[in-house]
Amino acid sequence: MAEAKTLSGAGLRGQVAGQTALSTVGQSGAGLTYRGYDVRDLARGAVFEEVAYLLLYGELPTQPQLDEYRTKLKLLRELPQALKEVLERIPATAHPMDVMRTGASFLGNLEPEVDSAQQYDATNRMVAAFPGIMCYWYRFAHQGVRIETTTEQPGVAGHFLELLHGKTPSDLHRQVMDVSLILYAEHEFNASTFTARVCASTLSDIHSCITGAIGTLRGPLHGGANEAAMAMIERFSTVDEATRGTLDMLERKEKIMGFGHAIYRDSDPRNEIIKDWSRMLADECGDTVIFPVSVAIDRVMWEQKKLFPNADFYHASAYRFMGIPTELFTPIFVCSRLTGWAAHVFEQRANNRIIRPSAEYTGHSERQFVAINQR
Ligand code: COA
Repeated sequence: MAEAKTLSGAGLRGQVAGQTALSTVGQSGAGLTYRGYDVRDLARGAVFEEVAYLLLYGELPTQPQLDEYRTKLKLLRELPQALKEVLERIPATAHPMDVMRTGASFLGNLEPEVDSAQQYDATNRMVAAFPGIMCYWYRFAHQGVRIETTTEQPGVAGHFLELLHGKTPSDLHRQVMDVSLILYAEHEFNASTFTARVCASTLSDIHSCITGAIGTLRGPLHGGANEAAMAMIERFSTVDEATRGTLDMLERKEKIMGFGHAIYRDSDPRNEIIKDWSRMLADECGDTVIFPVSVAIDRVMWEQKKLFPNADFYHASAYRFMGIPTELFTPIFVCSRLTGWAAHVFEQRANNRIIRPSAEYTGHSERQFVAINQR
């Protein structure tokens, strides 16, 4: 059961910093719910656009509403020429999260949200355009090709995979990507969402809120953990090596990325789902190294530290089996969490007071200023 830890101390742990009707994390029962729905049920039975609609508009769509919403997003995929030109100027050495940050910000220059009545349109535009921003830059910078950013894929999952690989994805890969986008869509007052809400509370525009959230998600203690987990998994080529290597890292008191959680106490409900899909992908591609190595690390972490894999750990292998370059792992997270961030911005705006906590002062007591020529 994914229940919440008893929290105290630094990092605002355990403090209620506001209200939300969007999700619950670590409460008894489901472990993670979006607007009252267990994320495991959504991951099993919905597509990403249904979940995006639920988060943004408050209720699950009917079939005609979902069809209309998917069509709307499909028509918003084309990137402005000026944005493509900016993306072409970003070097291949850049981290794709920096590309996403620039892409979100530049889109806000070209298509600013001047009035909060435009918040839904601005968000849907970003949901439709972000996979194109990521893949246009990636394929131009790394393969020297200028891709079309539109496809006939009905959903974001298939659209992204087709843009990345330049071919229609298999049903299995599209399905796993859909599940992944659902699992990453929303997670209460995590660091990047809180960033978006702080920004929204100043009555800033939505592109600023999302750009700030991307910067916060970038760090390895937050969204960047899936990339860091992959880098670690790839260092080992056998189960024995992984077992010994993980024990050594623990001995050296190193953090093992993809394990532990700020809120969940004994499991992350998203893990069991993505782990199953990762195993299925491993079988499909005949993997005999990455998945067993991942399981070995998982076993050592539980035996030694009672630390469990969070959503990021088996995402790493699942993405690898679908041929996704490691540095795109966190940008995919952006394409999904964007919906949660935006829903929180809407919620903050609907009942706003500027977020401005106080600090406990630990500096000098008051002292006399002395002019520079007398010091
Ligand atoms: N590897 C090794 N040790 C870990 C660990 C990890 N992944 N996660 C937690 N610990 C250790 C901590 O160092 C701490 O040890 P200490 O008491 O000796 O200092 C202890 O376990 C308890 O840590 P906790 O208070 O539960 O963690 P936190 O709330 O401060 O931090 C995370 C939560 C997520 C930031 C932390 O678990 C972490 O850094 N994980 C790796 C990064 C990651 O996967 N992030 C994605 C989150 S979805």
